[in-house]
Amino acid sequence: MPITKDDIEAVGSLVLDLCGIVLDETKGYLIESRLAPLLRAAGASTYYELAQKARTQRDESLHRRIIDAITTNETLFFRDAAPFEALRHKTLPELIDAKAKSTTPRRLRIWSAACSTGQEAYSIVMVLRELIPDLPKWDVQILGTDVSDAAVQAASRGYFTNFEMERGVSAGARQNHFVRDAAGWRVRDDVRALTSFRKLNLLEPFPNVGTFDVIFCRNVAIYFTAAARKSLFLRLKQQLYAGGYLFVGSSESLLDIGPEFAPKHHCRSVFYQPRPLSPTSSK
Ligand SMILES: C[S@@+](CC[C@H](N)C(=O)[O-])C[C@H]1O[C@@H](n2cnc3c(N)ncnc32)[C@H](O)[C@@H]1O
Repeated sequence: MPITKDDIEAVGSLVLDLCGIVLDETKGYLIESRLAPLLRAAGASTYYELAQKARTQRDESLHRRIIDAITTNETLFFRDAAPFEALRHKTLPELIDAKAKSTTPRRLRIWSAACSTGQEAYSIVMVLRELIPDLPKWDVQILGTDVSDAAVQAASRGYFTNFEMERGVSAGARQNHFVRDAAGWRVRDDVRALTSFRKLNLLEPFPNVGTFDVIFCRNVAIYFTAAARKSLFLRLKQQLYAGGYLFVGSSESLLDIGPEFAPKHHCRSVFYQPRPLSPTSSK
């Protein structure tokens, strides 16, 4: 039976509430291709019924399976290259210099928000390990979070196929940061030890995530409404230290968010610093 307007509206409104992703009337094909297996598993005969079941039964496991199926987890190591060049050549050297003068000189906190299967977080660790020779003497934590349980589990596993490795990891980096086995590559234990992964919905408050020197929040807000996107970036500002940095996706910009962030440039990369606002500044 072809998907109807009612099906799309019911699923769209459920998904919007669960994780903020906007599915408009053009996304019928996406709902069909990603949720068809769930339709059968949940014993629903239409997508409308599936959405109703998920709402009325408040079935956490069904919610989880819908989120896992509907989210786009496309990612790769060193995606878009330029932000990682800026991290290596501009933002981290500046942070390291600033910390040399501060009271907590050897502490670095970086958040990969919407980390998908972990390639972004592990790319950041690779940069850190290559840039800071005495890294073991530093107190470093890279936090990776995502709304999809399946993505968080994959990130925590830290195991990548040859195909995934070929998308961005050089031969030298493989040898330095990974261990090979028959079917793929596992991140080294000392790389894994610098990371932690957990489920977190960016629409919801950020309980106990802490404050960060750098936040990567790339290629996720593009799926949200304008209001949810603005609210997200303003809340991320609260999680950044005053001299911290925010990286967004290569097709994203914060220029419409207002004066809260100051754009910074390094070669082809644009990233942002929280701007202290006076009480009279317009919002
Ligand atoms: C296209 S991937 C981007 C991954 C990585 N940041 C990158 O740029 O390669 C988008 C990720 O956002 C996650 N996501 C979608 N909605 C979310 C939400 N409300 N809270 C947290 N993560 C979300 C998805 O599960 C998916 O893994």
